[in-house]
Amino acid sequence: MKIKEQESLAQYTTFRIGGPAKFFCAVKSEDDVMEAVKFSREKKIPILIIGGGSNLLILDSGFNGLVIKNEIEGKRWDEENDGQTVAVTAGAGEDWEKLVEESVERGLYGLEGLSSIPGKVGASPIQNIGAYGMDVSRAIRSVRALDTSKMEFVDLSKDDCKFGYRDSLFKHEKGRYIVTAVTYELYKNGKVNIEYKDLKDHFTKKGNDSPALKDVRQAVIDIRKKKLPDWTTWGTAGSFFKNPVISADKFRELKDRYPELPGFAEPDGRIKVSLGWILDKVCDVRGLIIGNVGTYEKQALIVVAKPGATAKEVIDFSNKLMHCVKDKTGIQIECEVEWAVA
Ligand code: EPU
Repeated sequence: MKIKEQESLAQYTTFRIGGPAKFFCAVKSEDDVMEAVKFSREKKIPILIIGGGSNLLILDSGFNGLVIKNEIEGKRWDEENDGQTVAVTAGAGEDWEKLVEESVERGLYGLEGLSSIPGKVGASPIQNIGAYGMDVSRAIRSVRALDTSKMEFVDLSKDDCKFGYRDSLFKHEKGRYIVTAVTYELYKNGKVNIEYKDLKDHFTKKGNDSPALKDVRQAVIDIRKKKLPDWTTWGTAGSFFKNPVISADKFRELKDRYPELPGFAEPDGRIKVSLGWILDKVCDVRGLIIGNVGTYEKQALIVVAKPGATAKEVIDFSNKLMHCVKDKTGIQIECEVEWAVA
């Protein structure tokens, strides 16, 4: 395993922003992961793991530690219950979109709503990626990771992972686990879920009230193409903030002022509100560009950066959005994108 020095990190993130890593290596096996962690301990430096870099903001000063690019590959499809279920285990460095594509081609239900999301398998449980009425935790059976506090590999069950909206154990115990593989449970005779408004509208327009698995995947790809920026033109990490989850009382108060504010009840009775709507209709910042950074013209929750933008510009711009939301609604919003600070 080769360890490089002063490797530019901008090329490894979809924002295409940020300075160099003091040390950088790519890992292709669990042995490589172990070796990389031992190196960082000898040098007494922090670690940053990157997969596809699609949800990451690297600072202009770079990362003053070891950046480990997870390139562990491999996929195994194990039929269970007379072929009714398939447990698919994928290496953390496998491409997420390819996994979804292959599972749909095999006629397996469970990941189709998560089509066209950039990134790698290893990030899926950390972020608990979600879209179009599902999140990946529903399909996850277990996660294999190096527990750096014990320096041993562990297999964590779905419950161990403590999943929530864009949340998991891996975010709370930051730096403790390095994901090496994920096992998903997929179904041969599943049912598609088209309750999400955009999907429902798409199929109503097409006059298709019982779409097949492949139709749902295609619909998600088409909708995303219309709503999300082209990653080759813009630097972006998708949604920059999480949708805020607020109390039912606070929601009622906002609904009095903004009757059309979309809100969705969470299992605990609180309400998840659409920040994209607030940024667009309340703060009026959809499509606003300041210098090299702005919000996407078709989706205000997405921050976009022109080539040459700096992390400082992104941070200054995102602070402006945070203040505007706080002033107008009283809600303190949180970043969805991870910041690499060291
Ligand atoms: N909306 C507006 N104006 C905007 C943006 C949104 O009015 O500029 C309204 C929409 O019309 C809709 C509501 O706000 O009524 C929600 O918008 P949308 O369906 O686009 O979803 P979102 O809540 O903004 C979330 C995820 C996305 C995911 C979509 C689709 C988060 C932080 N983001 O966005 O995930 O693709 O749902 O399911 O939960 C990502 O994480 O990077 C990401 C793109």
